[in-house]
Amino acid sequence: MKAILLKEFGSPENMYLGDYATPSPKPNEVLVKVKATALNRADTLQRKGQYPPPPGDSPIMGLEIAGDIVEVGNEVKNCSIGDRVCGLIGGGGYAEYAVLSEGMILPIPPSMSYEVAAAIPEVFLTAFQSICWIANLKKGESILIHAGASGVGTAAIQIAKAIGATVYVTASAGKHTACLALGADKAIDYKKEDFEASIMELTDRKGVNVVIDFVAAPYLQKNINVLSLDGRMVLLALLGGIQTPNLNIMNLLVKRLQITGSTLRSRDKSYKAALTQALKEFAWPLFKNQSFKPVIDSVYDWKEVAKAHTRMESNLNIGKLVLRVS
Ligand SMILES: NC(=O)c1ccc[n+]([C@@H]2O[C@H](COP(=O)([O-])OP(=O)(O)OC[C@H]3O[C@@H](n4cnc5c(N)ncnc54)[C@H](OP(=O)(O)O)[C@@H]3O)[C@@H](O)[C@H]2O)c1
Repeated sequence: MKAILLKEFGSPENMYLGDYATPSPKPNEVLVKVKATALNRADTLQRKGQYPPPPGDSPIMGLEIAGDIVEVGNEVKNCSIGDRVCGLIGGGGYAEYAVLSEGMILPIPPSMSYEVAAAIPEVFLTAFQSICWIANLKKGESILIHAGASGVGTAAIQIAKAIGATVYVTASAGKHTACLALGADKAIDYKKEDFEASIMELTDRKGVNVVIDFVAAPYLQKNINVLSLDGRMVLLALLGGIQTPNLNIMNLLVKRLQITGSTLRSRDKSYKAALTQALKEFAWPLFKNQSFKPVIDSVYDWKEVAKAHTRMESNLNIGKLVLRVS
């Protein structure tokens, strides 16, 4: 099969369309003819040699796919050849064919294109896991979502609004309209405003119940400061750095805060399958009636994968970058 391969770790130009062995499905897997895949920051890190795939997973980049089932493992019960499916994979999405575990299969609604479906799995599973399973956000609570226009952020806004929370986001100013259109109640330009001061003013100094963060070190003190009593924070990335000197953790104790880090890719298959089924139950009716929409920044032919990586690494995208696999 054709696949996007790497000459060596490094710049986007090191990626090329080459030949690779077509994978064979295990008894509990299906083989999917990939029609579309989508970018994640993990792909850019993997390209640079900074994020090796978990043992046993494909070394090809790509964590999510949408396409047609062309072969079914002999233990697979609930799907057939020809079904249109999308789902999360441990690697191997930038290819003509990829294997998908039965537990991770999500049916593509009839009116949804492959490009749209490919933009769902990673960011909606991550946002759902963080908001519903880890932070346990409840109706009537408030949430601050950093990088609100990121792929994960745009999914998180929709999920938090569906729960009935008040949603605050931080994002570059040019991305605010998109966040507000998804339902965010207020967008903060973190480049010009002090988000801690803004949140405290917006919440009558009560703070927010939940913070979803990707920026890490430079935000940690302010995140602790803006969380309310019994507040929960989920750390999903380290975009701003990992060292935080002079951290004052008094409020961690006084406000009984919970700060949790999480990764999705390294979770075991049974966890990911349970998460997938829970997302399906929660979100599929909302995708079907179009209340939920994955936000797509742009769709590229997969031969233009270098352009897509460059756009993501320039922080230009609002929502997902999708590759059409032909
Ligand atoms: N832990 C997990 O389970 C998990 C799962 C999926 C993704 N992730 C991680 O979550 C992050 C978001 O993923 P994504 O695919 O949604 O990313 P994305 O669509 O590429 O968006 C990332 C956005 O974050 C903002 N940003 C980047 N660097 C920043 C910084 N230093 N300070 C403040 N804002 C910054 C930029 O938006 P602005 O223009 O608004 O600044 C950028 O466009 C990535 O780091 C990814 O690796 C983690």
